[in-house]
Amino acid sequence: MSATTHAQWSSRMGFVLAATGSAVGLGNIWKFPYMVGQSGGAAFVLVYLLCIALIGVPILVSEWMIGRRGQKNPINTMAQLARQHGHTRNWALVGIVGVLAAFLILSFYSVIGGWALAYMRDAATGTFSGLDKGGIGAIFDGFLASPAELLTWHSAFMLLTVVIVAMGVSAGLERGSKVMMLALILMVMVGYGMTTGAFGQAVAYLFNPDWSKLDGSVLLAALGHAFFTLSLGMGIMMAYGSYLGEDVNLLRAARTVVIMDTTFALCAGLAIFPIVFANGLDPASGPGLVFVTLPLAFGNMGGGLVLGSLFFLLLTFAALTSSISLLEPVVELLEERTPMNRVTATVVAGVTIWALGIAALLSFNLWSEVKLAGLNIFDLLDYVTSKFMLPLAGLGAIVFAAWKLEQASVKHELRLGDTGFALWTVLARYVAPLGVLYVFWNNI
Ligand code: PHE
Repeated sequence: MSATTHAQWSSRMGFVLAATGSAVGLGNIWKFPYMVGQSGGAAFVLVYLLCIALIGVPILVSEWMIGRRGQKNPINTMAQLARQHGHTRNWALVGIVGVLAAFLILSFYSVIGGWALAYMRDAATGTFSGLDKGGIGAIFDGFLASPAELLTWHSAFMLLTVVIVAMGVSAGLERGSKVMMLALILMVMVGYGMTTGAFGQAVAYLFNPDWSKLDGSVLLAALGHAFFTLSLGMGIMMAYGSYLGEDVNLLRAARTVVIMDTTFALCAGLAIFPIVFANGLDPASGPGLVFVTLPLAFGNMGGGLVLGSLFFLLLTFAALTSSISLLEPVVELLEERTPMNRVTATVVAGVTIWALGIAALLSFNLWSEVKLAGLNIFDLLDYVTSKFMLPLAGLGAIVFAAWKLEQASVKHELRLGDTGFALWTVLARYVAPLGVLYVFWNNI
């Protein structure tokens, strides 16, 4: 560990695990499969994979690079680096948009984290045992229709998040290893999918594209989800980079994090869609997809009680490692800009986000007709963040890293030879930024 005043990761492994812990979460297990379903399958998946490789990876590395140089929170880091390189302090906007996005995302993320908690209880008490798709669907619909239930579980999830964050950085962040156990259960469920007789259909649905399904809105959804799932554009990865020692190879770390994250998403798809097709469920049914498909399997397979409870427990853990990383930047900002101490700042941020989450959860019942531009509050929060704020902030980060930082030092830092660095330059200066702009332009 070097002798800086700023804390550092206890090990390279700790850093990679924490970054993975932030990346792998509800985005992979809950959001990815239902977005695939709503976007019509493989065309979305392939564009998403392209976005991850060509846009996500360079932005992930850029955020870490910026964070490692700045050694501060995202807003101050951007402001300071910009000043050092003779640019306007307005670059701090990248950090500001990011923190605001994290604030908004956590409000609805916590609602879904609450679903995972509630389903852990249901799975453990045998609620799903022997039920058919009608019964499982009725449980989910009943759950959504009850503001009190949703509020209870949303509050419980938010409370857990607040308590962990209030305890402090190192205690809170290096928890990535829990997601490994979740991977195991997902594998089992992929295995179960193979026995349903609809596995081939699911594989074709996920990987054999019908390009007629591809339009501007699918492109934007895929791009937005690439940001969401890798926790990009929120200053989160930038903040992680600020705790990073010189010895960590960023490209290699990015490879590990991205492969893990993508594997989780694809396995979730391979576990869920066989159940969808084998039971004649609707792939496009929306946010309830994972909460209807997997319980159907758990309720009707040997050992489903244990497996189901464990699955939702681990999903809750995975959601928590992400939610603490969402709360962290908001708390840091309050700590720095106000006289609040860590605990007060955490509680104030937590309560505010919790309150906004109530508006999000009411979208599923009492306020389902409260809409702006055709979107209810829940969808609106998701839309504005994933499809707008994250790509914009990520764009800012990569443009800064590729055009404003001193490139000789970047080359040295990325440990690339001439060819490798030329490739990096093309990706970071042109492909990734123009890709984001292209998708935006397509949607105007
Ligand atoms: N990447 C997390 C997921 O896929 C969500 C998240 C987004 C976490 C942004 C932190 C920041 O679930």
